[in-house]
Amino acid sequence: ATGMHTAADAQGRYFGTFCDPASTYWTDAGFMALVDNKADVGQLTVSNSLKWDSTERSQNSFTYTNPDKLVAYAQEHGYLVRGHTLVWHNQLPSWVSSVAQSSVASVIENHISNVAGRYAGQLYAWDVVNEPFNEDGSWRTDPFYNALGDSYVTIALNAARAADPTAKLYINEYNVETPGRKSSALVALAKSLVSAGAPLHGIGFQCHFVLGQSPSTATLVSQFEQYTSLGLEVAITELDIRIQQPASSASLAQQQTEYQNVVAACKAVDLCVGVTAAGMSDKYTWVPGTFPGYGSPLMFDESFNKKPAYTGVVDGW
Ligand code: XIL
Repeated sequence: ATGMHTAADAQGRYFGTFCDPASTYWTDAGFMALVDNKADVGQLTVSNSLKWDSTERSQNSFTYTNPDKLVAYAQEHGYLVRGHTLVWHNQLPSWVSSVAQSSVASVIENHISNVAGRYAGQLYAWDVVNEPFNEDGSWRTDPFYNALGDSYVTIALNAARAADPTAKLYINEYNVETPGRKSSALVALAKSLVSAGAPLHGIGFQCHFVLGQSPSTATLVSQFEQYTSLGLEVAITELDIRIQQPASSASLAQQQTEYQNVVAACKAVDLCVGVTAAGMSDKYTWVPGTFPGYGSPLMFDESFNKKPAYTGVVDGW
């Protein structure tokens, strides 16, 4: 039967999901059966265990137990892996904020050379820099920007290039799926990095949407093309479409349409390489904990039954 990944694969793209051995679902056989299904999944993103607070909780002491497990699992299944993420203001151990500003560049370089170097040649892509901008398009004043200004992005990209020369190197961002100040800031950054010859290969669009507010296919395509016209690839990296609770048959049907429209935007752009959802089942999602009153954002329900959204993904390809 046609699944979410087989439909993507027929278009030369992948469909994948967040998956992390650190999560309780790793031992939930019902959930893992969804991830095991090669018709639906062709790519995995380690949701938490490659973040700085997991890999380098204390300075220069590295932990890889869970990402090693995930990468081995992915290789057994023939799944691509996206590494997420090397430099991000969030899930960052507090010691990084206490480093002397003159040492921040070497701290970034040491982190990336270790973590990206560990998986050299094994990952499809890295989200080298995650969420660099505020909503108004200004730079986030995190420890990296505070010490180095915007040069931290190039420092991180160069370090990732040296550590893993074959991985596609991405900047990943949210709320850049429609035009606006944040979107314009990211386009300007991409242009300046490309013209400077920095090793940037792709832009990740997180695509955390609210039902009824998902961008149209045409809007997404035109956002993607701002980067593909520079020769960069794009990917949808963390797709979910949250529904104000309780969900109804009407809202679930609307969610199907919105999933289909989003996937269709990737299909319409040659350099959109694939779509990753932020999970498979509504049983395991970050949404209710982060956006109280919202839920039901994924393709399978809490009992692991296919939702209309599943058909939306298949039909979008
Ligand atoms: C989320 C994870 O899914 C949760 O398990 C965790 O508690 C918080 O982070 N943008 C990102 C992702 O780039 O890493 C975040 O993932 C969601 C927002």
